[in-house]
Amino acid sequence: MTGFFITLEGIEGVGKSTLMDFVADWLRQKGRRIKLTREPGGTRVGEAIRKLVLDNAHNGMVADTELLLMFAARAEHLDKVIRPALKAGKVVLCDRFTDASYAYQGTGRGIPFDRIAVLEKWVQQDLKPDLTLLLDAPVKIGLARAAKRSEKDRFESEAVTFFNEVRTSYLKIAEKEPGRVKVIDASKPLEEVNQQVLTILESEIEV
Ligand code: TMP
Repeated sequence: MTGFFITLEGIEGVGKSTLMDFVADWLRQKGRRIKLTREPGGTRVGEAIRKLVLDNAHNGMVADTELLLMFAARAEHLDKVIRPALKAGKVVLCDRFTDASYAYQGTGRGIPFDRIAVLEKWVQQDLKPDLTLLLDAPVKIGLARAAKRSEKDRFESEAVTFFNEVRTSYLKIAEKEPGRVKVIDASKPLEEVNQQVLTILESEIEV
């Protein structure tokens, strides 16, 4: 079995954790070995960076600093977790990846995409996700769900306009790369969301 790299994307509160469980169960049923992970995070250094970037104590962090920290965590993650798991033939299921850097630091914070592309090339070389599942729902729905959870982190504290821009940015990425990025309507009831996901998994993943 060759490795396969799946990433999950979407604004806060669209149901990424539920999707992660659903996809993981499906892969296990098909007999695939999987590695579940997340960004920023997935390694000791990455989790330390995650704590730093999500901490409200760092409000007003310079956008470039934020971007570089995301890619610093990613470099560690690729080297220690993602590449070894793919090499071992596993399916890597990662909660967020580089599309989030384009959507949040690029469109959200205003960093030009070509500067992000330099870091992408530097850190990933030619590695890209094989499949990206983008959960899409109106910002109002996502934020209402996210509000029910614990205290807001530094990103969750952003204004609705920020998330509208992030959502639009994700949809543009999906439009540009329809082969890799599959959009799921996350505003639908869970049963229907799962059905959409199932259809995608069955057509995109060789098991
Ligand atoms: P989450 O994984 O719990 O959704 O939170 C991680 C936060 O980090 C989320 O608000 C999006 C943000 N993020 C970026 O801004 N850029 C990135 O490259 C990544 C991976 C995450």
